[in-house]
Order: sequence, then structure tokens, then C-alpha cells
Amino acid sequence: MRMRLTLCLLLAGGPLAAQPVDPVERGRELAETICSECHGVGESGVMKDYPPSFWAIARYRDDAQIRARIWSPPAHASMPFYAEVMFPDEVEALVAYIRSLE
Ligand code: HEC
Repeated sequence: MRMRLTLCLLLAGGPLAAQPVDPVERGRELAETICSECHGVGESGVMKDYPPSFWAIARYRDDAQIRARIWSPPAHASMPFYAEVMFPDEVEALVAYIRSLE
């Protein structure tokens, strides 16, 4: 039994396997750590906030629009270009988390 567990952990990428694999959970962690400095990232919010809360974004943007705005934020905004420092699967996790707030 222990052997099998060890093998599973190795196959899943060793120490990384200890991190949550659910994209929504991963996205929540990233949002709370990085995005909450500017955005409301919780499960409730108001429609007209600036910058918009993730709760609101989930209601007026589709996944493709959210993804596009993380990859290249509007030029006038103070939002950093996270795509330069994030892995694509982290961006996807954030999209999944924002979608989960709808
Ligand atoms: C330094 C402040 C700041 C941080 C940190 C930040 N943002 Fe933003 N973000 C903004 C601002 C300001 C806007 C509004 C842009 C505009 O004027 O349309 C914005 C807009 C957005 C939009 C588009 C909203 C819309 O109108 O549809 C998304 C999606 C978004 N941010 C996601 C994120 C994610 C995900 C993170 C964390 C990885 C993050 N932001 C971190 C400032 C920030």
C-alpha cells in the first residue's frame, strides 16, 4: 500500500503533488496571493467596482475574454503583465476560479 502511494506521488511529479491539483483551488490561491492587492477576489461582490471584482467579471465576461485580459491587460490600466511571469496553466487556473464565482 505504501509502495503504491509513493509510486503515485512520483508519477504525479513528486513534491508538486502536495499542491492542490484542482484548478479552481489553485486559481483561488493565486488570486488571493497576487490579484487581491487590487481586485476583490471573493465569492461575492458589487457590480461597479474599479478595478472590477472577480465576482463581477465572472458575470459579464466569458472565459476567452477573461483569458485575453490576463494575457494582455488594457494598455491604460495599472495591471501588471502577469503572463510574462506566469505559466499558462496558472492563467487557466485563474480563469477557472473566476468562472467558479458566477
Ligand atoms: C496593480 C493592480 C492590479 C493587480 C495586482 C491585478 N489587476 Fe487586474 N486589473 C487592474 C485594473 C486597474 C484593471 C482595469 C482595467 C480597465 O481599465 O479596464 C484590471 C482588469 C482586469 C481584468 C479585466 C476586467 C474586465 O473589465 O473585464 C481581468 C480579467 C483582471 N484584471 C484579472 C486579474 C488577475 C487574474 C490578477 C492576478 C493575477 C490581476 N488582475 C491583478 C489592476 C490590477
